Amino acid sequence: MSVAGLQVTHLSKRFGKKVAVQDVSFSVQPNEFFCLLGPSGCGKTTILRMIGGLLMPDTGRVALNGRDITFDPPEKRDINIVFQNYALFPHMTVYDNIAFGPRRQGWPEDRIRREVGRLLDIAHLAGYERKYPRQLSGGEQQRVALLRALITRPQVLLLDEPLGALDLKIRQQLQLELINIQDAFHITFIYVTHDQSEALAMGDRIAVMNQGRILQIGDPRTIYEAPVNRFVAYFIGNTNLFEGTVQEVVGAQARVAVPEVGDVWGVCPHGAQALRPGLAVTLSIRPEKIHISRHEPRQEGWNRVAGVVQDIIYLGVSTEYIVRLGQGPTVRVFTQNLRPNGDHAEAITWDDPVWVAWRPAHALILPD
Ligand SMILES: Nc1ncnc2c1ncn2[C@@H]1O[C@H](COP(=O)(O)OP(=O)(O)O)[C@@H](O)[C@H]1O
Ligand SMILES: [Mg+2]
Repeated sequence: MSVAGLQVTHLSKRFGKKVAVQDVSFSVQPNEFFCLLGPSGCGKTTILRMIGGLLMPDTGRVALNGRDITFDPPEKRDINIVFQNYALFPHMTVYDNIAFGPRRQGWPEDRIRREVGRLLDIAHLAGYERKYPRQLSGGEQQRVALLRALITRPQVLLLDEPLGALDLKIRQQLQLELINIQDAFHITFIYVTHDQSEALAMGDRIAVMNQGRILQIGDPRTIYEAPVNRFVAYFIGNTNLFEGTVQEVVGAQARVAVPEVGDVWGVCPHGAQALRPGLAVTLSIRPEKIHISRHEPRQEGWNRVAGVVQDIIYLGVSTEYIVRLGQGPTVRVFTQNLRPNGDHAEAITWDDPVWVAWRPAHALILPD
């Protein structure tokens, strides 16, 4: 039976004693925007090179639409790669760069001209045909590199940190353009990045990696709201982590004793079955899920802890409060700035005694 899309199964690769990729498996659907996300050195590029045929795996298989391509040479795979550093031919015009693949495939020149013009339009580069790479900005060069990789319509495009060398504003703009281009072309994207905000913004699904392994695969919301462990919670977005010991389990919730904070009720995003009294766990509480007030909160069943405001960081769209809980740890709290002058509605200030409060559903109990 033929399976649509790309399947990677039990892929492993060592370099000498160094295990770069360890037993990695995932499937990517046709037309999906799939992100491989993880810190530098976790094995992302090594996986891409094995999918692209630039590197042979020690074990495992790569299949495209049910066909085993593990040992096919790159040019037989219907897969293209875009790297971070553009890699345009410097002595060729934009037109000739994009026309390179089609010419090798023997397309007639009038078809090439039509298609290059159409692509330049889509990428907002109309009229750039005769320019040379050195006359383009970094963002423009990277768009040309993308068009060069797309024009022959590979089934899968591998992108290795393609926006990594660009400034934040340009990067955010190109993120949107890439999504639009991917939509227009119906091509499967496997997009490597170490930037969690980029993965959240772009990916249909994200595979979070660390040290050669995939820890979790899910849509952005699941990865953010229901991480499987401490690493994923910490790596994606901001969070407050507390270490504690499970005291009791009641249905889906558990009470966790956190030194110098007190008892906190929380939930296990992936089921409370494994929880039992005495188990050491980590609690993850996102800063935006925490309410801060000078008055004791009344919400039924919420966790509440008294503290003192230690620091206030004005961030424009939001304000961050650092609150010390008793003599114990600090907690970060984000509040939206709703009033025109940017003040929090209650005008909380330094050294104010405050209450912080959050739902049990927002205190995630994670295995260490
Ligand atoms: N050709 C190579 N020779 C030796 N070690 C390598 C080679 N390529 C990658 N590595 C090592 O494998 C690990 C994973 O590298 P890589 O896949 O490039 O990570 P990432 O792309 O996530 O930053 C790193 O420890 C890296 O040093
Ligand atoms: Mg890399």
